[in-house]
Amino acid sequence: MVRGVRAAEWGDVKRLRLDALRDPVAHLAFLETYEDAAARPDSFWQERAAGKPGVRQFVAEVPGGEWAGSVTVLLEEAGSQDWAGYAVERSQAHVVGVFVRPGHRGNGLIQELLDAGVAWAWAQGAERVRLFVHAENPRAQGAYLRAGFKPTGLVVSFSEDEDEREREFVLDR
Ligand SMILES: CC(C)(COP(=O)(O)OP(=O)(O)OC[C@H]1O[C@@H](n2cnc3c(N)ncnc32)[C@H](O)[C@@H]1OP(=O)(O)O)[C@@H](O)C(=O)NCCC(=O)NCCS
Repeated sequence: MVRGVRAAEWGDVKRLRLDALRDPVAHLAFLETYEDAAARPDSFWQERAAGKPGVRQFVAEVPGGEWAGSVTVLLEEAGSQDWAGYAVERSQAHVVGVFVRPGHRGNGLIQELLDAGVAWAWAQGAERVRLFVHAENPRAQGAYLRAGFKPTGLVVSFSEDEDEREREFVLDR
């Protein structure tokens, strides 16, 4: 079952995020390090789980209650600037924090998570949904392509290292 997280579940939010940051491809998949996340106070995780307007985290809960994966969707309003300072031309959504635990990969959960995130984005009025994926993360790219996302050709670097190439993928409404 895929659903939004609840405020009381901040311990689960923290646990899943720290596990994701210990994944072998975490350095390609996420902008934060395990050490930085592990050092954050409880209040950080409480605020994250409580959520705020324009942000929604979805989790896939499997029988037994384990959280098998997650995606987070951020709304980007037309006329605003995105986190990197670029102008946002159309009302859109940005998918981040995509993770499925290794034991649950390859069984369609990522599609369910993306479906929930995309449905929420459309319901909020987004005209497109975008995400960035590392050029050397073929498994994630495969999952996004299968879900209907397409590379826009935009390639950016989030670090000083020019080899750190992130490809923008978009799903139009
Ligand atoms: C990215 C992630 C959520 C995808 O979920 P998943 O359950 O592993 O995805 P799937 O196995 O269903 O789909 C991956 C697709 O890529 C393909 N694929 C897998 N490994 C591949 C590789 N090395 N090269 C090319 N394609 C590959 C699969 O065949 C599949 O495509 P298909 O269904 O058309 O055959 C998951 O692997 C994960 O959490 N990875 C670590 C964190 C991460 O990379 N997050 C994304 C950050 S942008």
